[in-house]
Amino acid sequence: MSSTFAPSIPRFDFDDNPETASTLPAATYFDPGWFELEKQHIFRRSWRYVGHVNQIPRGGDYLTDFIVDQPVLVLRCRDGSIRAYHNACKHRAHLLLTEARGSLKSKLITCPYHAWAYDEAGSLQAAPHCESIRGFERLQIALDPVKVEIILGFIFVTADPAADSLLAQIEPGVERLARHLPGLEQYRLADTVTFDIAANWKNVGDNLLECYHCHPAHRAFVDLVDMDTYVVETTGIWSWQGGICRAQNSAYALPEGLSDFEREFVTFYIWPDVAFTLFPGSRAIASFVFGATAAETTRQVFSIYTPDGELDAVTADICKYFREVLGPEDVSLVENVQKGLHSMSYSRGRFFVDPERSYFSEHAVHQLHRLVYQHLQASIHA
Ligand code: FES
Ligand SMILES: [Fe+2]
Repeated sequence: MSSTFAPSIPRFDFDDNPETASTLPAATYFDPGWFELEKQHIFRRSWRYVGHVNQIPRGGDYLTDFIVDQPVLVLRCRDGSIRAYHNACKHRAHLLLTEARGSLKSKLITCPYHAWAYDEAGSLQAAPHCESIRGFERLQIALDPVKVEIILGFIFVTADPAADSLLAQIEPGVERLARHLPGLEQYRLADTVTFDIAANWKNVGDNLLECYHCHPAHRAFVDLVDMDTYVVETTGIWSWQGGICRAQNSAYALPEGLSDFEREFVTFYIWPDVAFTLFPGSRAIASFVFGATAAETTRQVFSIYTPDGELDAVTADICKYFREVLGPEDVSLVENVQKGLHSMSYSRGRFFVDPERSYFSEHAVHQLHRLVYQHLQASIHA
């Protein structure tokens, strides 16, 4: 009899060769014990995209987020630098900042519960009545920092103090992105489309990482992108999907006279849960975060950034296409997959990967599964 390591999952192996591999077991998409392991070994150790520097332009401006269950805050300091901390008060753990975005009312981060106040360096500066508390060492109390990396103006954080540099792991992809859209550091948030999806985060990622489903499921998309030019490249912890768009198509109106390079639709995926997408004909870039909120729920946040924070006619069309067509099409697909994953008739599937790595090839999905397996391998075989 095979032993299990999480409530409903037998120990398993994973084939490194995408052409012969089977997918991760279905239960890894809903088992709560497995999800706890993912929190520990994936989300507390990897980099999370939280926003663009121009969302916090002035000293005292901040963003907050949750890396699954870990509250974090990102603060623009008065010297212009950006720092991040765990967003939990050292007294009795109230969230220090409760809004998703805002500006400090003073030079201090003041907890709303009992008014402990921390400076930009995280040091506790005030704790009302602390003089009368025996053995209370105010100067020894400080917020725990969260590592920050800013890449082309996009802010990433990690709760792992020992995490390797993100840029060092994805640099060729970043350079490629910068060649497509110079000046991303100056960009501004123009619009956001959020979908709360009844599906596991990997399920949303799987769907993002292949275009095997594009012909059957996205009629307008395959009219927009010439699938004969579509390529999917995987390297380390990132992948690059690209294809040349047609000027005449049913998705959105593309200006005439663009070069092939200017007509390249791009999805640049970065492990574990973000991708950046370029839409030809527009100077816009979209971040696409599919953040796990629980084992079977994901918050997908599509944010569009433009050089001046405005939506021109083409970019407004793209947002409308994503909000009304492409987004809902994909949400329906992954929610129906999520239901199917519970079927007692299904355990593991096959990746559809051909030797040519054609447009329909699912090797980037295999890459995601392999990375998940690698991060949890020690727990599976402990
Ligand atoms: S929990 Fe923050 S001051 Fe008490
Ligand atoms: Fe899709």
